[in-house]
Formats: sequence, C-alpha cells, structure tokens
Amino acid sequence: MRRLCCATAAPHPPPVVVVRDQAGLSPAAQLALNRSFDAAATSYGHGSDQALLAASVLQSDLVPIPGVPQVKLLGNGLVESHEGLASVRLRHPQHFSFHAAPLSEEESAAGFTRFYRWHMDAALYGLHPPVVTSLLALEVPAGRLQTVRYDDGSGDVLRDVSLGTTAFVSGELAFAALSAEQQAFALRCSVRYAAHPYIWIKLAKAHPTGLGLLSQGLELGASELPPVEEGKVMTYPLVWRSASGKPSLQAHGCCLADLLVDGAPMGDLARARETLFELMRPGIAPKLVLAHEWRKGDLVLFSNRALWHTVVGTLGPEERRVYHQCNLAGSEAPEAYVPAE
Ligand SMILES: [Fe+2]
Repeated sequence: MRRLCCATAAPHPPPVVVVRDQAGLSPAAQLALNRSFDAAATSYGHGSDQALLAASVLQSDLVPIPGVPQVKLLGNGLVESHEGLASVRLRHPQHFSFHAAPLSEEESAAGFTRFYRWHMDAALYGLHPPVVTSLLALEVPAGRLQTVRYDDGSGDVLRDVSLGTTAFVSGELAFAALSAEQQAFALRCSVRYAAHPYIWIKLAKAHPTGLGLLSQGLELGASELPPVEEGKVMTYPLVWRSASGKPSLQAHGCCLADLLVDGAPMGDLARARETLFELMRPGIAPKLVLAHEWRKGDLVLFSNRALWHTVVGTLGPEERRVYHQCNLAGSEAPEAYVPAE
C-alpha cells in the first residue's frame, strides 16, 4: 500500500481511510485485510445463503467472486471475464426504484439526485454487523457533478458531489448533534430489527432523504417471508460505544421493526420510524456529510460500526462503475454505550 490518508472533504470528516493506487489488490488479499480487523469473523456480512439474498432488496447489488464469495462485485454496466465471472450486468442502485416520491426525469437531467439508502452493512438477522467494510474502486465513472436534494422541507442540499460518490456520516457526530434531552432519550432506546429485514421491505418505499421508510403498509406479511427463527431476530442498543469510547448513534432505519424504550416496545411501526428519524436526521446535515470523490484504485476502509453510508447518484446504463466490496459478519455483538455515573 503506497499511501495512507484520511479524506477531508467535510468540516467534520468521519473516520474513512483512503489508500490510493490499490487496483491490483486481489480478492483474497482484500478478504485477508478485512479479517485483520476481526480475526474470528468468517462469513460475509449478509451470510452465504444466495437464495435468501436473491429474494431481498439486495438481489442484484452484490455478485460473489468465485472462490472468494465474501468479496462481492458491485457497480454499474456490463462486466465480462472478471475474476472467473463470464458476464455480469451490474446495476447501480438508483433512488427511482426505492424512494416513494423520486425526482422527475427533468430534475435528474438537470443534475439533481438523492441519497439512496443510509445504512450500515449488516444482515440484522442471525448475524452481527461487520466491524469494517472495504471498497476497492476498479473502474470509476467520469466525473460529472450532481447535487443531492434532501426534499424533506428543510431546503438542505449537498452540492457538487462526484458521480457515483459514496456518502458517509459519523454516528458519534450524529449523537453529538442532538439536544441533551434527545441524547438522554436515545440512551434509553433499543432497535428491534425485522426478521429477514431485506425481504420484509422488498415492496416498501423510502423517505426522500433515504433515511428510513415511509409507513404505507407495504411490508411483507409473515406468510410471505421465509421461515423465521425467533432466536435470530436482532435487537441492538441505539447508542453504541465507539472505538474511542464515545457514544455513537447507530441504527439501520429501513430495517427497524420496533423501537424499545427502557425495554418496552412502542408497538407502533409508524411512530417508531418517526421517532428514529427525528433522532437520526441531524446526523446527515450537509456539513456532516463526507462525499468521497472516488479515483480508480482507491481502497476505502471504514468503520461499519461507527458510520452510516449510502450510495449516491444516478448513472446511465453505459456509465461503468466496477468495485469489489468486502465485509464480514462480526464475531461479537456491538457494545452499548453506558454513560459514566
Ligand atoms: Fe453498504
């Protein structure tokens, strides 16, 4: 690895490490790099059941590399003769198919786009969230700029992000952005995730910020899901202890099934979503977003337990984006932040 630097595009940059000129990194070496952060981790962050993955909203986003299935091919456009894959048509996730009220074609043509889906990389059913995600950029689309619109009544926009950027925010800064009253409330909350969450939300639609779903009754019913093992349903604290010992707000709003306050379920999905949204929204304020300007060969490593991230942008069918991604289901659960007495 030739060069190590921290990206500094935002005034308060999240801890994202960028190593330039790594296009030659093999899938096996990338897997070994991820393992170095959690030696006991073995399976991919979303597990190895390709049938379940294929039935989910992640179906066409992640193509396993033959022989190293924990490393996934993702991106946009046609890829041929690649690491043992004969021919794959990749599809960059676009907000048009996921947001309840997407931008119009005219708005898109004028250079506007959206955050697709803020998330941490995590199965949230039977597997713990990965510690680290690595992303290796093998091909990056030409750099026209786009403006991200929040469209939530705030008037917020994030200007001049490069095409196909990945946006990051920090859970620590998101917690710090809350009032003292909100912080005290957040510390009392836990998030219960849905069983088979990415299948459950297959028909549901997102808020225009990409920060959670609208409650339109579109989630699949129990009879439409694969068999559920109750022991695999995950509940995590809303505030995690970061590697630096600080409180970090960490949740996957789209997969939330209920919010528990002092251990008591709200029992109202719409209210739970709205409550979580209010706690998370300050964390994606434009000044807190790092939009990484990818270069071919960039290897990005980020703390998947301390950051939220999202795909951004609207790519045409011929705008090629070819990446290798790796993360491994955590060998241990994340740690709750417990304030000092
Ligand atoms: Fe991701």
